[in-house]
Amino acid sequence: MATIEKLFQPVQEKLDDTGNKVTVVGVGQVGMAAVFSMITQGVTNNIAMVDVMADKLKGELMDLQHGSAFMRNVKIQASTDYSISAGSKICVVTAGVRQREGESRLDLVQRNTDVLKIIIPQLVKHSPDTILIIASNPVDILTYVSWKLSGLPKHRVIGSGTNLDSARFRYLLSEKLGIATTSCHGYIIGEHGDSSVPVWSGVNIAGVRLSDLNQKIGSDSDPENWKETHTMVVKSAYEVIKLKGYTSWAIGLSLSQLARAILSNANSVHAVSTYLKGEHDINDEVFLSLPCVLGRSGVCDVIRQPLTQTERSQLHQSADLMAKVQAGIKF
Ligand code: NAI
Ligand code: 2OP
Repeated sequence: MATIEKLFQPVQEKLDDTGNKVTVVGVGQVGMAAVFSMITQGVTNNIAMVDVMADKLKGELMDLQHGSAFMRNVKIQASTDYSISAGSKICVVTAGVRQREGESRLDLVQRNTDVLKIIIPQLVKHSPDTILIIASNPVDILTYVSWKLSGLPKHRVIGSGTNLDSARFRYLLSEKLGIATTSCHGYIIGEHGDSSVPVWSGVNIAGVRLSDLNQKIGSDSDPENWKETHTMVVKSAYEVIKLKGYTSWAIGLSLSQLARAILSNANSVHAVSTYLKGEHDINDEVFLSLPCVLGRSGVCDVIRQPLTQTERSQLHQSADLMAKVQAGIKF
């Protein structure tokens, strides 16, 4: 009798489904930061990783598996074959090229569209009920591309969007005010990156709106120059890329937060890239960030924020830019 047979008296077959499987495509800097955040924060205990680089995949898999004793029963798989993604509740897409110094996110559009043409149909084939979270850049355009390629309903295709920009904004506010980031409330909406829109009219601490204390806040004529805080948000990715070559930890944590909201059916509010046509009188089929309620079915509601005329016109400019770039994409 083999040792295993001596040890175990079989009673009932084990189940494979944890109910919270997440696939991450792309095991580069962003993908691995997302995986690490999700498994160490207990967002999921069932991760599948897919990439085209078999050796990198195997190395990352082994390295994580060697940490099993320090985690809570996490099942980790990796393969270049999409069949391992089967049954995923969420598929996070972080694959593709990133900006080099001096490049903008929009410079990546066709190269990463071509990458998504391979990835998205495979994910949907193996997990037809999945929710897609797109992180690859330019994220708003690629969320639109993924929606088109997937055939999924719009509430199940989500871009990581300005959840990250809003977090950077809240951090910078917290530094300026000397209080915790979690106590600084405010949203950045629109495009993730260069044309993002800070909603100064809603920035508040304990319900006290900063725009009630300084009516010029965020404008060019504000003597306190709060606008600089948003300028720093826009510049921050470029600065980090210049310093370390890429950004990873903050986007990894952001993706983990979004996955948690969905898997735990939290109905919590996050600024994510969603189908915008019809909101704030936008008529184009574009994806941009607005605060959304996220739950098990994906985007459950879009929050109708009252915007000032300036904020509204900035959002429209972002939407026009997205529509123009989308028109040039070769599917
Ligand atoms: P990276 O170069 O470290 O990793 C990219 C990975 O994608 C590589 O492992 C590569 O083998 C894989 N890949 C490429 N083609 C593939 C395919 N057809 N199928 C499967 N895997 C494929 O890049 P990094 O730094 O992880 O960035 C990834 C993307 O995330 C970039 O587009 C970057 O701009 C974007 N990003 C987005 C952020 C956001 O806030 N939305 C924040 C930071 C980065
Ligand atoms: C970021 O904002 C580059 O989109 C990436 O970190």
